[in-house]
Amino acid sequence: MKRITIQEIATFCKRKGFVFPSSEIYGGFAGFYDYGPLGAELKMNIKEEWWNTFVRARDDVLGIDACTITQHAVWKASGHVESFTDPLVACRRCNAKHRADHLIEDALGISVDGITPEQVNEMIAKHNLRCPRCGGELSSVTTFNLMFKTFVGAVEDEAHVAYLRPETAQSIFTNFKLILDTSRIKLPFGIAQMGRVYRNEISPRDFLFRMREFEQMEIEYFVHPDKINECPYLTKEILDYKLNVYSAEMQKCNKEMEKMRVEDALKKGIITTAWHAYWLAVFYRWLVDLGLNPERLRIRQHLPEERSHYARDTWDIEYLFPFGWKEIHGMSNRSDYDLKQHMKFSGKDLSYFDDEERKKVIPHVIEPSQGVDRLFLALLIDAYTQEEDRVVLKLNPKLAPYKVGVFPLVSRDGLDEIAKGVYGRLKNEFTCFYDEKGSIGRRYARQDEIGTPFCVTVDYQTKEDNTVTIRDRDTKQQIRVKIERLEEVLRKLIRREITLKELG
Ligand code: GAP
Repeated sequence: MKRITIQEIATFCKRKGFVFPSSEIYGGFAGFYDYGPLGAELKMNIKEEWWNTFVRARDDVLGIDACTITQHAVWKASGHVESFTDPLVACRRCNAKHRADHLIEDALGISVDGITPEQVNEMIAKHNLRCPRCGGELSSVTTFNLMFKTFVGAVEDEAHVAYLRPETAQSIFTNFKLILDTSRIKLPFGIAQMGRVYRNEISPRDFLFRMREFEQMEIEYFVHPDKINECPYLTKEILDYKLNVYSAEMQKCNKEMEKMRVEDALKKGIITTAWHAYWLAVFYRWLVDLGLNPERLRIRQHLPEERSHYARDTWDIEYLFPFGWKEIHGMSNRSDYDLKQHMKFSGKDLSYFDDEERKKVIPHVIEPSQGVDRLFLALLIDAYTQEEDRVVLKLNPKLAPYKVGVFPLVSRDGLDEIAKGVYGRLKNEFTCFYDEKGSIGRRYARQDEIGTPFCVTVDYQTKEDNTVTIRDRDTKQQIRVKIERLEEVLRKLIRREITLKELG
């Protein structure tokens, strides 16, 4: 089946009210997108799932919500002022600026992740690469810092520089001691945060894939430095879980990715630490549970030259987008890099006192980092299904913007009054959409297209026996249910504890 292209999904999102180009009445703003009514619901549901699963349901993870504007000292210590850069080339004729590695990838159709500035210059010269916009000659490469700079207070000088955070992680490290002191949580434990981040991407592209303002959901998971291979949560179920694995070695040797049990990846030394393996499996499985096709997921290890300045080892969870395998989730072993840097620059003690050993240690960190918008995009692409003349958005019911469509078969003979009563009731628990306009077939199709998993219809039989039909978006099957049982049945259907078939 032909997959939807990124341009088509952007058009669909705009047409149905999921996502709009930001300030479109002024021509839009590259790299910025606004979520419309349906998109805002879907995005909130994704975030809620993440927060419920990884913060509320776990005893070992605490959540925080920190500022998005952060002082210069934080980013100096973290290494971002120095190293959070992308390679940039400019056109000598039209002055357009291009991200150098993307320009090479687009021109030659190869991946050059982690390429050095010297290699960029060599490749541009060797292949006589020109400006994609006007064909002009390109400058040699420089580096461009991706952080948005601002000034805090009335004075705009270097002493008042601050940055819009480019990752949520740093405020977890800067709050580490306060969280330890106020919560008295013990290692191993995680601190989680979700929120907006900002990156001045040189060339934002591919719709929600590369934006300048987006959201992250991150966990910094702290482990005793000597216990990075002692993960009590590596149960048999997780060890047996199969992942598509694409290690640095496989990439170097031009091998294909391999489907592998987590335990085998650990035994073969492909994934080097137990905690890294655990979190990779947990997030991979979470993404599959949310609805992503497991065949379109893989974990890919960064090549050494590709790694961020803070990372000892990094694996991305990649999704097979219509434009190729791309990262939707980054997971680095940040070791004790960040805590040590902040200790050095702030002069404060950010160690953890181990009660058993009676000594101070600096914990090591595994960081599962999930982009909200890239996940939103992948889920939409995966759910988008063309069925003959109509589109069905097969979203996991728990993520769908509306859970239930409520219709009277016709808007007369009192059916509309009963349907409005049903709608009023269901609205207390589920996001619902009431519709009495057009043929019933058209109304079903409209809900299918925006992913509403169930539609409840009031018809003439309702007046006789107080039953309504529930229709399933994916199978189109319908069953009759007493109105008083609707909430209970819909609750189970949405949680996928039961199917309509089993009820019928
Ligand atoms: N704290 C680690 C960190 O920020 P990252 O790989 O740079 O790591 C993590 O980002 C996630 O944030 C990515 O996997 C992706 O989902 C999302 N992300 C990164 N840059 C993005 C961009 N320009 N637009 C949309 N999402 C982005």
